[in-house]
Amino acid sequence: MAILRQISQLGHPVLREKAQPIADHDDPAIQALIEDMLVTVVEANGVGLAAPQVYEPVALFIMAVHPSPRYPKAPQLEPFALLNPELLWASEETELGWEGCLSIPGLRGLVPRHRKIRVRYLTRLGEPREQEMEGFPARVFQHEFDHLNGIVFLDRTDSRNLVTEREYLRLLS
Ligand code: NI
Repeated sequence: MAILRQISQLGHPVLREKAQPIADHDDPAIQALIEDMLVTVVEANGVGLAAPQVYEPVALFIMAVHPSPRYPKAPQLEPFALLNPELLWASEETELGWEGCLSIPGLRGLVPRHRKIRVRYLTRLGEPREQEMEGFPARVFQHEFDHLNGIVFLDRTDSRNLVTEREYLRLLS
């Protein structure tokens, strides 16, 4: 049975490690980790969750894009796992958008990201997938992909682009 995992917080070294590639997608420990991360991201109402955020430095993250007050037009996607993800191509064009992170509670930041990307990954069944993403899903991919390289969104912006959660909610209204 899936269990809720504790989420690592900024300052813990696991968030600054480079994640190790997954050699065997069928490893029961990896499949159990995916199950746990799926329930954990939904419970936390996150749009994404990377394995280092549950103290496991392996190359895996969940995307759980759904509409929210800030991104009402975001597609509603069934949460899915991406194993050994790669960024194949990124548009020169970037755009600014608000991000938060379950590992950095209380803060939001305006972060520049490539508007369009082409990515490759393995599904949890080990099937190779290649796809293009743009806009909000592309942003989520880039945010989670950064986690696998020990990078958090704060590293991609300036402290002048940060606001507290309370001020962020004020900006939305
Ligand atoms: Ni994050």
